[in-house]
Amino acid sequence: MQNGARIEYDYSIAKAFTFATILFGIIGMTVGVIIAFQLAFPSLSNLAGEYGTFSRLRPLHTNGVAFGFTLSGIFATWYYVGQRVLKMSLKESKFIKSIATLHFVLYFILILLAVVTLLMGYTSSKEYAELEWPLDVLVVVIWVLFGIAMFGMIGLRRERTLYISVWYYIACFVAIAMLYLFNNMEVPTFLFANGAPSSFMNSISAYAGTNDALVQWWYGHNAVAFVFTTPIIAMIYYFLPKESGQNVYSYKLSILSFWGLMFVYLWAGGHHLLYSTVPDWMQTMGSTMSVVLILPSWGSAINMLLTMKGEWGQLQTNPLIKFLVLASTFYMLSTIEGPIQAIKSVNAIAHFTDWIPGHVHDGVLGWVAFMIIASLFHMAPRMYKRELYSKSLIETQFWLQTVGIVFYFTSMWIAGITQGMMWRAYDQYGSLVYSFIDTVEVLHPYYTLRAVGGLLFLTGFFMFTYNMYKTATCGRVLDKEPANASPMGA
Ligand code: HEM
Ligand code: HEM
Repeated sequence: MQNGARIEYDYSIAKAFTFATILFGIIGMTVGVIIAFQLAFPSLSNLAGEYGTFSRLRPLHTNGVAFGFTLSGIFATWYYVGQRVLKMSLKESKFIKSIATLHFVLYFILILLAVVTLLMGYTSSKEYAELEWPLDVLVVVIWVLFGIAMFGMIGLRRERTLYISVWYYIACFVAIAMLYLFNNMEVPTFLFANGAPSSFMNSISAYAGTNDALVQWWYGHNAVAFVFTTPIIAMIYYFLPKESGQNVYSYKLSILSFWGLMFVYLWAGGHHLLYSTVPDWMQTMGSTMSVVLILPSWGSAINMLLTMKGEWGQLQTNPLIKFLVLASTFYMLSTIEGPIQAIKSVNAIAHFTDWIPGHVHDGVLGWVAFMIIASLFHMAPRMYKRELYSKSLIETQFWLQTVGIVFYFTSMWIAGITQGMMWRAYDQYGSLVYSFIDTVEVLHPYYTLRAVGGLLFLTGFFMFTYNMYKTATCGRVLDKEPANASPMGA
């Protein structure tokens, strides 16, 4: 196990989740590109019968990328980072290793079942919580296994101090457990079908009306917080200092931002329900907390950018630093844009428009996907003990994907604000100036541009897949592990 002072880490689980990240990333993003083209050219919705319709494919995209791609990335990095910062190896405990293996196997089966059931049209119809009750039960089992593995590893650690990244992984575990349980309280319909034909899979929510909406958006917003934000911050706190060889700029700032984020995020979900039947004070609280949220969000991002102080030259030489720094910057962009959209008067224009998916994708592509890609690139030479296959391919991927993201969010900003302004335009008699179809016609070029941007991003993802595959199979073998900057081929 221990070779002198060095610990031999076990990367088998991290490698398995890396494979899942790439596989589900390809599926989820390919479906994303298809639905983006369908919005621009609606006749594409009719090519594969009911299975090819936008309504079936959209939840497949959102679940595929959030719970397939992103969660796999979170698990892959946890089983890598966890061992290293806790100074323990999975080889040391057969029990934890088998729990972690079961965690992977059940998780993989769950995502495959999710793909099949969503395509078949089974859905609870709550956004990001579409999976039906039998799958929800499986989610709970998987989450418990993740928790046992995580706290088991923490229990076996040799390093007393819990590094910042570990706090953020713990936050992800605890918060998702609470949110998922409450939002997915549902009653299977077969229990009270009284002999009437009823699908075994269907269920109805335990909440009704406004309460249902409140619980749903408390969950929905915090899925953003604890899937798309805290574990991704965990990644940047580990991988940016490691790859750049720099110390984290300020430990104090990291503590302040961590607790700030924990306290504020949970109150901000009301911004999804502005101008709805939710009590006015809750809407105002949601708006206010959203604006306050700029502080802890920017606290982490600025801490990361200042970590690069004096070392900005690395941007020219190391493409992984480009990914990491741009990810921080996109995090800053989406966490200033979100609070602006949460201001009531702005939300009156933004809500229901394409500006919202624009905001979503500058966050998920620029921040979440870039962080996962950079993290896996950093892990690859250490896990496979081989040099990264091609640096020039990483450079090309970076620029292609960056242009793709810019196409995506700029087109949606213009489309969204155009839509918002056209919907509310009225003439001197108080009649609406535009019909709905007028807005659809105006938006066509922007939808096309978004789809092209998505295609560029997906192409970059295929380059990433190829580079990872070549690294694992034929990158130059390394005789010792690199301390920081990842070694790369030409
Ligand atoms: C300070 C932080 C943030 C605030 C205050 C914020 C605020 C908002 C607001 C006001 C909306 C629109 C609600 C509506 O009118 O429908 C929204 C939607 C959304 N945001 Fe953010 N946002 C923040 C950060 C982020 C980040 C970093 C991401 C992803 C990485 C993200 C992902 C989303 C998603 C997925 C939705 C769409 C939810 C839906 O309607 O399905 N947000 N956000
Ligand atoms: C190739 C890249 C991608 C493309 C082309 C794409 C495209 C799309 C499209 C067309 C929609 C539907 C928008 C609508 O209903 O108006 C959507 C929704 C969404 N996508 Fe993506 N997507 C991509 C990657 C991702 C990734 C990597 C993530 C997360 C990690 C993600 C998360 C989401 C979310 C959360 C929504 C729901 C947004 C909302 O309700 O406002 N997407 N995407």
